[in-house]
Amino acid sequence: MATKVLIGAQWGDEGKGKITDILASQAQVVVRSQGGNNAGHTVEANGEQYKLHLIPSGILNPNTLCLIGNGTVVDPRVVLEELDMLAGRGVTTSNLKIDPRAHVIMPYHIALDGLSEKARGKRDIGTTKSGIGPCYMDKAERSGIRIYDLVHDDIFVEKASANIDLKNEIITKVYGGEALDKESIISEYQAYAKRIAPYVEDTTILLYDAIKAGKSVLCEGAQGTLLDIDLGTYPYVTSSHPVSGGVCVGSGIGPTMIDECLGIAKAYTTRVGKGPFPTELLDETGDLIRNRGGEFGTTTGRPRRTGWLDLVILRFSVRTSGLTSLALNKVDTLSDIPSLKICTAYQKDGKILREFPATIEELEGCEPVYEEVPGWSGDISGVRTYEELPENAKKYIQRIEEEIGVPVSMIGVGPGRDQNIDKPIR
Ligand code: GDP
Ligand code: IMO
Ligand code: MG
Repeated sequence: MATKVLIGAQWGDEGKGKITDILASQAQVVVRSQGGNNAGHTVEANGEQYKLHLIPSGILNPNTLCLIGNGTVVDPRVVLEELDMLAGRGVTTSNLKIDPRAHVIMPYHIALDGLSEKARGKRDIGTTKSGIGPCYMDKAERSGIRIYDLVHDDIFVEKASANIDLKNEIITKVYGGEALDKESIISEYQAYAKRIAPYVEDTTILLYDAIKAGKSVLCEGAQGTLLDIDLGTYPYVTSSHPVSGGVCVGSGIGPTMIDECLGIAKAYTTRVGKGPFPTELLDETGDLIRNRGGEFGTTTGRPRRTGWLDLVILRFSVRTSGLTSLALNKVDTLSDIPSLKICTAYQKDGKILREFPATIEELEGCEPVYEEVPGWSGDISGVRTYEELPENAKKYIQRIEEEIGVPVSMIGVGPGRDQNIDKPIR
């Protein structure tokens, strides 16, 4: 498998956790390069469901080394809760390592995430309120606390103390919020540090050595292309780089060491939080897809917005991440809808646009150009070969391949580990 990057090709929740778990059985290393516990990756294995936020979805494979890379933001409370949850369910967790460079999400980040969202009023982003944006802000401002600092008590106390004083000024004077208690935060985090310390190791070296030794490495993306802070629907984005390029800086490997980029998409489109969504369905078909697909957030429980498949977005993802193939999940969810729509382009001011616009202002007023295709009927969740799929499902997939220019290599027909079709690439 060599080094394979796996990224979300839409607005997140494409089924990255499931695909990572499937591919992890052939990988020796799985790494998360960006984001934090804003991610919610659901894995169904051996009849059990696991919801992971920060720990790589490869953890269910006892022989896979799982790395939380330098580009991530880590809420120590969440990692420890996840470790406890996994250990309680008999999953081996000693194969987890956290890079010392990763930034620590502090309680003031979470407080400021909530306060700044409230202050934005109608223009709120709809964040997961897990402190992601404020933590990356401190990283860019160079006042962040890193995992290395957390596990070195003298450094931690000094940095945390100064930061809490300053953030309390902002919380109380700018936002009119309540000051946080310095002593209790420091002692809470000191307890976390003791438990986190054994997991801390330079993951960039572990990765480099694994690649040099010819081992298979899987880079598990979080979020998705259109949530990328540079390339996504800014400002309705997250604060990191979910596109494939984010893997290089976020896990410290060079682009020449990556062999494949697998995009993950759903057979339709969803989005959580605010921001533009050209193919959104605000009718009963949207409700049907939401209910049948169980489209409710893994992290926040919020209902996901649903819409038809948008190939302008997938083309954009192919272009900005250099995708070599696509995993198409949730094809089963579309069964029994008599007629399906695929958006192949946008139309605005009498012009046809095939490329995703650079700004939300330019995206405004873009109407999807739909191609209507016949659906298929019947339960396909037990299908395991491409040949066995209904003809119209195969045609749907072929249309996607024609329009985006890369092959579909995996087809999801259910949430389970085995509910996947490996499609031969011609
Ligand atoms: P991620 O954030 O990209 O890992 O995706 P999530 O886990 O947030 O959301 C995807 C949801 O779809 C999860 O509940 C998965 O169990 C489920 N899922 C993944 N692939 C399939 C599929 O092919 N069919 C169905 N029915 N569900 C799927
Ligand atoms: P996975 O990895 C879907 C969205 C939030 C919000 C925006 C900013 O499960 O695909 P943030 O808390 O990151 O500052 O929120 O990004 N968002 C996600 N949407 N899947 C995710 O992760 C997401 N992570 C963040 O809903 O719109
Ligand atoms: Mg998710």
